[in-house]
Amino acid sequence: MTLPIFAANWKMHHGPSDARAFMKSFLAHYPRQQDRKVLFFPNALSVTTVSELVRDRPDLETGIQNIHWEDKGAFTGENSAPMARDSGATHVLVGHSERRHVFAETDAESNLKVKAAFRAGLTPVLCVGELLAERDAGNTEATVLRQLRAGIDGVEEGQVASMLFAYEPVWAIGTGRTATPDDASQVHAAIIAALKAAIGERALGIPILYGGSVNRGNATTLLAAPDVDGVLVGGASLDADGWNAIVRA
Ligand code: PGA
Repeated sequence: MTLPIFAANWKMHHGPSDARAFMKSFLAHYPRQQDRKVLFFPNALSVTTVSELVRDRPDLETGIQNIHWEDKGAFTGENSAPMARDSGATHVLVGHSERRHVFAETDAESNLKVKAAFRAGLTPVLCVGELLAERDAGNTEATVLRQLRAGIDGVEEGQVASMLFAYEPVWAIGTGRTATPDDASQVHAAIIAALKAAIGERALGIPILYGGSVNRGNATTLLAAPDVDGVLVGGASLDADGWNAIVRA
């Protein structure tokens, strides 16, 4: 049984000044908790600010929302895994649906990013999820498992065992429409089965987060669902008081 994980994906919100104000307010009302882990995914420019503010809080960690798969080079506008690590990040989101569907990132690119993350000592959080059309066509599991298998292709078993996964149905992200706890559990179970086929029993300790319109009203129910080990929250993580209420779920 892993500790429940509450991950905040701030997307393109909260630059350094706002991130500092958010964290000051959040930290003032959220004393250290031993029984849960909270991860913050600010935009790249705010990673240093957030990571410095949580330095003495082992229950809080910082990640970056995206990396390039090369460690350095002529890639104007990109951030690499070693740079994210140097900024204090411990985790990185890979294959978030906005990366896949707004920026046309492929399964193969996600795989390169997972490997780049491990080279730099970052823990990748591989995000998978189906479009509404894929769900309607009965292809939810096929889509999710294709993204999953491609994402971990060629990754050492021990490294896969140390990853986090997030199931985020694309139709539920930012739409106010959430998967039912049963829907989430079903897909999470399929993810665990695929991971078990890939790396054996060690797969059972891998946290699988659910994301997609999680808020303070539904977080507790989703977290109580079988095989849901945490939540990845976008919109409802942007306000310090609201986020505090969710992480106390
Ligand atoms: P949402 O976003 O909570 O705003 O739906 C979740 C995510 O994209 O990670």
